[in-house]
Amino acid sequence: MKSTIVAVAKGATALMLLLGAAMPASGADPTPATPASMARGKAVYMRECVACHGDKGNGDGPGAHIVNPAPRNFELGVFKLRTTPSGAPPTDQDLFRTITQGVPGTAMPSFRELPEQERWALVAVVKQFASIEAKTKPIDIPAEPRVTPVLLERGKAVYTGLKCFNCHGAEGRGDGSSSLTLKDDAKKRIWAPDLTAGAFKSGKDPKALYARIATGLDGTPMPSYAAEASPDDIWALVEYVRSLVRK
Ligand code: HEC
Ligand code: HEC
Repeated sequence: MKSTIVAVAKGATALMLLLGAAMPASGADPTPATPASMARGKAVYMRECVACHGDKGNGDGPGAHIVNPAPRNFELGVFKLRTTPSGAPPTDQDLFRTITQGVPGTAMPSFRELPEQERWALVAVVKQFASIEAKTKPIDIPAEPRVTPVLLERGKAVYTGLKCFNCHGAEGRGDGSSSLTLKDDAKKRIWAPDLTAGAFKSGKDPKALYARIATGLDGTPMPSYAAEASPDDIWALVEYVRSLVRK
């Protein structure tokens, strides 16, 4: 009985997605954008974000050229830090997390100090720049497994099998042979990160690492492995990568 309801609900969700109807996405803005909140978001944007992301959101603020990686050009609608499939727009929660936490290891600061309502208003502003209208469903992330030596061995085998070492290096230090020639979609030089440094772009949350490996970092050479690796393999990779972090 329960499974029938779930199946019906899933069908309805798919139908709503097809029809482009608004759905109550998980982690959605608790206070949907209104003209007043948009105006407030714009004002905060002009104060806090414009120096890097530019007044049109196209990543050409006065401070943009001095930082690498460059601030995102929102107009392109390409985002690195998503829990949604490669090529899909991020969820509201993804954008909220990035704005709240910042992106460690880059110029993107944390805006934790701003009131939560202002951060949600900023999410709406970014979505407007990026013309994100429909909601995308996040991928399913199964519960984190127990970390055992067997799981880490499996992670190491998958890391080798999928040739992660080409870019990230045999020990994850970012010194793989391909890392010397990588470019992002803007044809800018980019490097495979040193995974042993542990400065992950969405923080230390294992589920964020799962999302990175499963969905890739759009606009960069880091691909989605959802097609090549099973959920169990992806978890094994996550725990293997975490085991490489220097203590
Ligand atoms: C000092 C420069 C700077 C400021 C100020 C700044 N950002 Fe950023 N932002 C960046 C950089 C650099 C990146 C790219 C990071 C990367 O590529 O990993 C970025 C990336 C982003 C992303 C994209 C993350 C993704 O998934 O690709 C969002 C969203 C974002 N910033 C929102 C904002 C908002 C909203 C503000 C103002 C509240 C802001 N930023 C202020 C530099 C800045
Ligand atoms: C073609 C080169 C390439 C290959 C192959 C590759 N990566 Fe990456 N990876 C990158 C680049 C480049 C980035 C950084 C993108 C950025 O931050 O803008 C990245 C980022 C990551 C991150 C995100 C770190 C963070 O800050 O959250 C993880 C985790 C990761 N890779 C793991 C893997 C694993 C595991 C494999 C193999 C299954 C793999 N990568 C294969 C190039 C590659």
